Amino acid sequence: MRVQLIALSDLPAEGSTIVPFFGKEIHVYRVDGVPRAVANVCMHLGGPLECRDGEFVCPWHGARFDMRSGHKIDGPAPQGARLMRLPTVIENDALFYVWGEA
Ligand code: FES
Repeated sequence: MRVQLIALSDLPAEGSTIVPFFGKEIHVYRVDGVPRAVANVCMHLGGPLECRDGEFVCPWHGARFDMRSGHKIDGPAPQGARLMRLPTVIENDALFYVWGEA
């Protein structure tokens, strides 16, 4: 299964942008120019995430996550918590979510 997330031309060089994903939201952004996608879900109690200065920050209780690794930096999310990253590929100048392909 492949689902287009965003055209590469619409993917910002800095920060992130939110796109719909099966009735939920994901953040798409670049790490060293390479596109990446994570669920817009805090690993504490599921709050939304805001992109700030290289981190995703949850406004509910202040958890902070590194944009590169997805790992928790600080806050009430469990020790070792990591954001949910989606498998993606680039094809035809767009970023696609992929699932179940060999
Ligand atoms: S839900 Fe994100 S810090 Fe609590």
